[in-house]
Amino acid sequence: MPQPVIAATGLYVPPDSISNAELVTAFNAYVAAFNRDNAAAIQAGEIAALLPSSAEFIEKASGIKSRHVVDKSGVLDPAVMRPNIPERANEDISVLAEMAVRAARGALARWGGDIRDIGAVLCAASNMQRPYPAMAIEVQNALGIAGFAFDMNVACSSATFGIKTAADFISGGSVKAVLVVNPEICSGHLNFRDRDSHFIFGDVATAIVVTEEALARGGWTILGTRLKTQFSNNIRNNFGFLNRCAPEGIGTADKLFVQEGRKVFREVVPMVIDMIIDHARDLGVEPKILKRLWLHQANINMNDMIGRKVLDRVPTPEENVIILDEFANTSSAGSIIAFHSANSDFKPGDTGLICSFGAGYSAGTVFVRKR
Ligand code: COA
Repeated sequence: MPQPVIAATGLYVPPDSISNAELVTAFNAYVAAFNRDNAAAIQAGEIAALLPSSAEFIEKASGIKSRHVVDKSGVLDPAVMRPNIPERANEDISVLAEMAVRAARGALARWGGDIRDIGAVLCAASNMQRPYPAMAIEVQNALGIAGFAFDMNVACSSATFGIKTAADFISGGSVKAVLVVNPEICSGHLNFRDRDSHFIFGDVATAIVVTEEALARGGWTILGTRLKTQFSNNIRNNFGFLNRCAPEGIGTADKLFVQEGRKVFREVVPMVIDMIIDHARDLGVEPKILKRLWLHQANINMNDMIGRKVLDRVPTPEENVIILDEFANTSSAGSIIAFHSANSDFKPGDTGLICSFGAGYSAGTVFVRKR
């Protein structure tokens, strides 16, 4: 059975970045205008005044200091508060595919193999720009890859689900190499007028080349992959093609990202800790020997807690990589950014863990060993 290997990764970072202070200034300007425009109704007790946001709260509660976005001007305009992303003609590459292609070109260059050996492209991400034709097929076409391609969405866990799918295709002999792309324009589904969540997400794209051993120069042996899902309404996005069919009207708030952050924290952390420890045991890997954790990047306190339990010590910053301070939550891409940015010091035989978790609930573990 061919042994799957992570041969290379790539990263595309949009040039715009927004600090907490900038985001809060825009949000608070919106709040002041809302409260001014609705002063009479607020006075009469008909509606509640909106509360301001705070940069200190954001950093303390989440660890996020800034985020990259595809368009800063729209997000920071209190009259707009969403990214401005003009529609493109069908003949032009779509925005999401373009980001994916940029990340993919980096991964393919680092891999250095023959693109004709790639037999499949998976676009694994939280939000597809459209239902069809698949983003993955557009990326496949742009890169001149043969074989087949399809989209898959498992929210924040999409990348690890994509790696497992790629690894299974390879070990099953269907293809020799797979390109997995994770383009995330999270700012498109974020309600920048919601105090509880306006700071959470950022935009980015990552790419992963998974190959059979013979096609990889160096890279990372995939020791094992495991997936888990458990239904929950605590992270939800009701946007969909049936919205226009609702006779009562579309509404807006829950067609964007909504969550019960506290409940997510409480329920997902123990689920992920158990999953990692069980999977490590089944692979014969002692969790304490893991040189590095590349965890999903949603909240620094979640990652601290998972790191402490899994490694049975307080992990150093090198052992538990944090990139959410610069990137915020980039959904499926977070653990891959962490892996991509912090693995060059690994020696052959060193072992680490890529792990994602999020909406669904969903979680994925990928144990890797440097070749
Ligand atoms: N600025 C200032 N204060 C704020 C605020 C803001 N932007 N947003 C909320 N607050 C206030 C609340 O009103 C509340 O005040 P109170 O104590 O007076 O009632 C207080 O801060 C705590 O709010 P809470 O929502 O309980 O914050 P939290 O500590 O749970 O942190 C998250 C919020 C979202 C950062 C955190 O719950 C989280 O990251 N959870 C995990 C989410 C996750 O992983 N999701 C996966 C997404 S894919």
